[in-house]
Amino acid sequence: MTLAGAFYKMHSFQGKEMPSTRLEAELYDAEIIGEVPREINGALFRVGGDRFYPTLEDDVIINGDGLMSVLRFEDGHVDFKSRYVRTERLLAEREARRRLMGKYRNPYTDDPLAEVLDRDNTGNTYAHWHGGRLFALREDSHPYMVDPETLETSEETWNFQGKLESMTVCAHPKVDPVTGEWWSFGLFADRSLIEPVMALQVADKDGNLIREEKFKMPWPGLSHDFAVTREHVIFDVMPLTVDEERMKRGGDFYNYDPTKPSAWGIMPRGGTVADMRWFYLPNTFSGHIMNAFTEGDKVYVDATISPGNGFSFFPTTLGELSTIDEGIAKITRLCFDLSDDATEPTQHAVPGSVGEMPRLDLRYQMDRYRWGYFRHDRGLATLDWDNQKVDVHELPPGVVAQEPMFLPRSEDAPEGDGWVLSMVNFMAENRAEFWVLDAKNIKADPVARILLPYRQSFSFHGSFATLDQIKNRAPLGATR
Ligand SMILES: [Fe+2]
Repeated sequence: MTLAGAFYKMHSFQGKEMPSTRLEAELYDAEIIGEVPREINGALFRVGGDRFYPTLEDDVIINGDGLMSVLRFEDGHVDFKSRYVRTERLLAEREARRRLMGKYRNPYTDDPLAEVLDRDNTGNTYAHWHGGRLFALREDSHPYMVDPETLETSEETWNFQGKLESMTVCAHPKVDPVTGEWWSFGLFADRSLIEPVMALQVADKDGNLIREEKFKMPWPGLSHDFAVTREHVIFDVMPLTVDEERMKRGGDFYNYDPTKPSAWGIMPRGGTVADMRWFYLPNTFSGHIMNAFTEGDKVYVDATISPGNGFSFFPTTLGELSTIDEGIAKITRLCFDLSDDATEPTQHAVPGSVGEMPRLDLRYQMDRYRWGYFRHDRGLATLDWDNQKVDVHELPPGVVAQEPMFLPRSEDAPEGDGWVLSMVNFMAENRAEFWVLDAKNIKADPVARILLPYRQSFSFHGSFATLDQIKNRAPLGATR
């Protein structure tokens, strides 16, 4: 399963691309088959791309407008709500009652009427709960704050009370389970494509910015995810490169450069970006990272790795389309040995782990762990690292799962004791179910199937907050 393939599968049926849902919904007390565990009391927030106005023919799914949804669990009952993130660009398009923005991150393809400044910020990638606030993240922009009850959007974007210099905040935050800190990075942090820089960003548990350090990227490339361990921070830059001249000709923001390796920069967490050491891995693309940890001189990074372009909807720099095979990703453990002069990590792909959208028991983020969860090519999967074993809850053709998430049975339950949650679309029937599966017995029938009366557009990433956390949330608009 390629990352682009996973996105395409969610949005197509019998070879035809499915239209956007363009729907905001509220469903009180969903019908449930089975029983929702009473231990789950809280809200699961997810966001994805769902273009509000008809899209360009060759547009890519990651250019969709952010559609935030929430499943609220309370004493065995589940309510559902979805609402578009009211971004500056969506508000402008709604005002004009038509599409104004052109291709993904290419302002040269916009309608002349598109005068909004924040044209890339769709808020479509990660629904992130932190410090009593819910954010809609998008890696080329600042986060939008969203009210976790009403799903209303803040008028202004979040820049850490005016303290953040970077113009971008990544869409794969890592929340430290020990300190509560929000670790992040900015890609093209100064918005320059000629002198590209990245920035390490750290906020404390309450959302106060405590670190921001900029460094030079090896080339202007894609960096979608990153990793933090208790001792190191790891940045990756992919061989998908940017060329402004190409964009002026109406080309794509990214093209895949097959002559480039992927680059992996590692710095001590307690050090500075000046301590960064770069490794290079030829013929690799990585979309996502499951987890990472440090043991002695070795840094382990568990990533989805394919031998070529995982974003096959972007052509190569030679103008060619990538093959499906080169973008097929497996969950792969990279080992970076800091004790010698090596410039390339070793890699080991877990047998049978073809898939994407990896997650873990977040209580074990940044540390050695045993259990992982991912969207397998054939369904929903658990990965037991200790035994190198993948178990798959297989789904029939036309039934497609989204990103799985793990919730522990209780705060002090052993690792992996809990549930795997995922949205599952029944494409032919134009409807969806939200599934709760027993994480220790993934192959068994779902514990609960929450019925939703229409197909759900593809959400990328989400997070969970308890009902108490939501009750004690920061007020919307308190962003500066
Ligand atoms: Fe992602």
